[in-house]
Amino acid sequence: MQIRRLTEDDRDALVAVRLPAFGSSRLGGDRVEHPSYDRWGLFRDGVLAACAARKPYASWFGGQQVPTCGIAGVAVAPEMRGRGLLRPLLERIHEEARAQGEVVATLFASAPGIYGSLGYRTVGALDTIEVPATSLHRFLRRHELRRATADDIGELKRVYADWARRHDGPLTREAPEFDDAAWLHDATGVTLALGEDGTALAYASWVRSPGYGRDAYVDVEDLVWNDDAARDSLLWMLGTFSSVTPAVRFDTSGTELTSMLTEHHVREHRPYDLLVLDPGAFRPPAGPVLIRDYF
Ligand SMILES: CC(C)(COP(=O)(O)OP(=O)(O)OC[C@H]1O[C@@H](n2cnc3c(N)ncnc32)[C@H](O)[C@@H]1OP(=O)(O)O)[C@@H](O)C(=O)NCCC(=O)NCCS
Repeated sequence: MQIRRLTEDDRDALVAVRLPAFGSSRLGGDRVEHPSYDRWGLFRDGVLAACAARKPYASWFGGQQVPTCGIAGVAVAPEMRGRGLLRPLLERIHEEARAQGEVVATLFASAPGIYGSLGYRTVGALDTIEVPATSLHRFLRRHELRRATADDIGELKRVYADWARRHDGPLTREAPEFDDAAWLHDATGVTLALGEDGTALAYASWVRSPGYGRDAYVDVEDLVWNDDAARDSLLWMLGTFSSVTPAVRFDTSGTELTSMLTEHHVREHRPYDLLVLDPGAFRPPAGPVLIRDYF
């Protein structure tokens, strides 16, 4: 058995392992050797049997930035499953993470039970919930709203950082994949809720589905607030879609929105698991861990 970093020469073998697992032959960034993260592979008899990526992040915990090894793209070739190949592969990646000073490793587990014996514990989840758009009619607009432009990226980052550092778990979004383009990219719109002095107190990044009628929805991929009335002003705006999109979806974590939007149902539940790599440097929080970014 050999475990090593993958290179561009391993592209076909990597795609062959990933395709059955994820249903796509696409590679993030369309590269094997990525500038911001490593891909690792386990080979048996010279054939790639398992792969995973190590993404260097930082997370906020207790107001401190904690170096975080994000584990993604874990897959074992279907013919090689059930042979315990994950443990040596992930232990090698953990070793690399410790060598790079990472204190925790985190991942989104596709099924409970895969990572428990390696020491991972589920500490939170990233959920997609859906509510009837009409259920948002009860919220009031108390703040001015404005569509964000490229000039507002600094402001979006500030709102996010102010929110994130007050919670346990959110990524700092300082890794290269959160470059300036990512803040407005892919959204139909990013809307700011403004304070009296014109600075942003909250924002919603939303995607409008095609068409209108029964199946149409607005998907709020990032709703971040440092002021409840500013958040409610954004919820009010999302409620105004009710004539064309009966549903509004939110990516959310913990009970931040679910305790308030009681009419919700959960469309997708993505448990978030954490392993402490350096017990001397980190103790998991007693309370809920919040996460906004799926990786
Ligand atoms: C999930 C996957 C990586 C597991 O591969 P595998 O070869 O069965 O893994 P291993 O034999 O090393 O088993 C590792 C652990 O996972 C558990 N496990 C494997 N598949 C599981 C499943 N579907 N549900 C729950 N637990 C599972 C095993 O029982 C084992 O637990 P143990 O350590 O307590 O004994 C593989 O089935 C796969 O590639 N699936 C599709 C993609 C995917 O789901 N990737 C994970 C993304 S988070």
